[in-house]
Amino acid sequence: MSGSLCGRDVLSIADLKAGELRSLLHTALRLKVEGHGQPLTGRTLALLFEKPSLRTRLSFEVAMRSLGGNCLYFSPQEVGLGVREPVKDVARVLERHVDCIAVRTFQQEKVEEMARYASVPVINALSDHEHPTQAMADLLTVLEAKGRLEGVTLAFVGDGNNVARSLCLGAAMCGLHFRIASPQGYELPADLVERARALARESGGSIALLRRPEEAVADADVVYTDVWTSMGQEGEAEARRRAFEGYTVDTGLLAMARPDAIFMHDLPAHRGEEVTDEVMEGPQSVVWQQAENKTHAIKALLLALLVGEGG
Ligand code: NVA
Repeated sequence: MSGSLCGRDVLSIADLKAGELRSLLHTALRLKVEGHGQPLTGRTLALLFEKPSLRTRLSFEVAMRSLGGNCLYFSPQEVGLGVREPVKDVARVLERHVDCIAVRTFQQEKVEEMARYASVPVINALSDHEHPTQAMADLLTVLEAKGRLEGVTLAFVGDGNNVARSLCLGAAMCGLHFRIASPQGYELPADLVERARALARESGGSIALLRRPEEAVADADVVYTDVWTSMGQEGEAEARRRAFEGYTVDTGLLAMARPDAIFMHDLPAHRGEEVTDEVMEGPQSVVWQQAENKTHAIKALLLALLVGEGG
């Protein structure tokens, strides 16, 4: 399997084969525990971000630099992807200067267009559709905390958004039992669920779409939530607050999961909305470990895409 990922784009977590994803997670774990040299010396990564970012930018920059490479960050004001300049033009200028491009955008089509025109690997660093590097960090955290992925029950409480989509697909690829409870109108898209179910059939996992948070969380090994209003949806915040009433992960809800269940959140968290301060700060919360793990996951991904190691 080694080397097969070299030069590829990762626009969806499902651009990876299940075996590749599992292998990347084990590489990430090894890099975290054993450390590494600087195999990316002389390589450059461009980060094109149309939305704010703390963790993802931090993780890409720390990962790339600690592997010996360089990073160039372009802020939302500087990029103007498709506005100041066509995406395909940006792609062909960048590919002549850098070895890899990470794009954070409001539209999946933009990261796809970038990948079509750039000859170097393009990574989706969060779009309206997906957040593949987050799902890698999430699965790495579950693997670390539970010692396995197959058969682990993960309950996602909330919006069928970008984070939920990548996690659903990734969980399906790795044999988890993925349950999601969402209010009406905020469910995962049907085509994605169908795709995830096909992947789950291969891995022994399963996907359950539920309405009530209590049903999703019952005896789960992992309880996960994300914001009710994602970046770009600010105009819907009030309507979403109403729709998601009853979907807060509080100590009462978490107590319905297994006693050794962990709580996860991709952050930033809105305490008092999707999660309480008590749960965020409580003993079951692994959110800081999860945030750190994005760096280790991205290291494994960059190595696989740029030098063909460990994927
Ligand atoms: N669903 C959130 C994730 C942020 C990392 C958003 O898109 O804003």
